[in-house]
Amino acid sequence: MADHELPDHVVTNRTFWTTEAAAYVAPGRRSWAAAEPSWGIWGVPESEVRILPDVAGLDTIELGCGTAYVSAWLARRGARPVGIDITPAQLETARALQREHGLSFPLIEASAEAVPLPDASFDLAISEYGAAIWCDPYRWIPEAARLLRPGGRLIFLGNSTLSLLCSTNNDEDPVGEQLVRPHFGGLGRIAWSDGSSVEFCLGHGDMIRLLRASGFEVENLVELQAPEGASTRYPYVTPEWARRWPCEEVWVARKRG
Ligand SMILES: C[S@@+](CC[C@H](N)C(=O)[O-])C[C@H]1O[C@@H](n2cnc3c(N)ncnc32)[C@H](O)[C@@H]1O
Repeated sequence: MADHELPDHVVTNRTFWTTEAAAYVAPGRRSWAAAEPSWGIWGVPESEVRILPDVAGLDTIELGCGTAYVSAWLARRGARPVGIDITPAQLETARALQREHGLSFPLIEASAEAVPLPDASFDLAISEYGAAIWCDPYRWIPEAARLLRPGGRLIFLGNSTLSLLCSTNNDEDPVGEQLVRPHFGGLGRIAWSDGSSVEFCLGHGDMIRLLRASGFEVENLVELQAPEGASTRYPYVTPEWARRWPCEEVWVARKRG
């Protein structure tokens, strides 16, 4: 898709991720090397939350795969993954890590809002801080529904709505203990005040309505708690905050048969 056909936020976010890519090589390498899948900035082990279904034999698509460690974890559990990302520099890292680990699966440069793959070709669509926060949910969630077979699952992790309600549009300000962003009118498209990037976050009611209108039934909403003693390299939220409130959440939805 030519640049002039891409929405502004996609072009802005690709520029942002082209700049950020170098900083994600080492964390990507660590995650590729991890034996067990984990979730989010606190690394909550999959064995504690049991979010993933048995993926053996499933066709999976990771929307906004970045360095593609989530797809690597799925491949090691017997899935046939495909990774989609809009940023060539991120896909270069993913390809380098594939070579390092001798694990190959298709990586496609495309926007998760318009994926150049046929309808009903996957059993699981997944996003960990990829399309889940960088794409317009009113575009990427119907697109995920199109890509899934009936009965297929959509699993995505992003910042919790609560954490966004407790933060300003200046991403240098940490998540606080007061509501500072209006729920009504303050969610949806969130442009950071430095102009670097654009994120999206819906209220839970809007998300449930969007999922249902796109053909999904909601199966679960897992609000992640930082494990005791956990740390993160991200400065925007403290472990104390994330021990008391969920700063991340994982939605699990199933496409109607
Ligand atoms: C934090 S990374 C998440 C991926 C992975 N979990 C990781 O940490 O490497 C965010 C990724 O979303 C990608 N992204 C942003 N907008 C996108 C879009 N419209 N379509 C596909 N990928 C997109 C970025 O290029 C970036 O690689």
